[in-house]
Amino acid sequence: MKNIKAIIFDAYGTLFDVNSAAEKCKDKIGDKWEGFANYWRTTQLEYTWLRSLMKRHKNFWQVTEESLDKSMKAYEIDSSMRNELLDLYKILSTFEEVPEVLKSLKEKNYKLAILSNGTPSLLNQLVKSNNLENIFDDIFSIEEVGVYKPDSKVYDIPIKKYNIKKNEVAFLSANTWDVSGGGNYGYNSIWVNRNNNTFDNLDYVPKNQIKDLSKLLDII
Ligand code: LAC
Repeated sequence: MKNIKAIIFDAYGTLFDVNSAAEKCKDKIGDKWEGFANYWRTTQLEYTWLRSLMKRHKNFWQVTEESLDKSMKAYEIDSSMRNELLDLYKILSTFEEVPEVLKSLKEKNYKLAILSNGTPSLLNQLVKSNNLENIFDDIFSIEEVGVYKPDSKVYDIPIKKYNIKKNEVAFLSANTWDVSGGGNYGYNSIWVNRNNNTFDNLDYVPKNQIKDLSKLLDII
């Protein structure tokens, strides 16, 4: 991968562990915590795609709340857990290797940015609660364009800001559909395949996949 000028990260699921909110409540939720966490995440993403198609945008926090309500009903989670889960979602943990890798990338000569469905205030709070301030040149939110990934308007945001070519971006996501979205747009997408998943059939196959971010420096 040559001539990379910007390294751009997806946030939820890539840098920050979306299941960590429910996991921190596993004593109260019991064995079903993981099924519940996956259902919540899937519903949340479906709502982003459906809202974009219906042209009925609500921000990521509203979508997160509304998908939580459906998921709590589906998994019969006591309503007293609602606020705790939402508060924990605002301070999701990073995956283990993330802080160290980001700090070492900071010393190199790349633009470093987040490009995410999250609102600016949610993303800033996540970065702050994980002590990652001063790492990123920019935190780009889809709120700037009012439509969710994988609309190409989203992937346009950093290209316009940095005035660089699409293939000068290394885009990292653990979400297969986001890897395809960025790749079809023209980025060099890298799939962070943490859980040995199966890739999508959406016209793009990433040239690179890594198990976690620590392998990133070997390929750029
Ligand atoms: C994001 C979602 C895709 O952070 O995880 O944009």
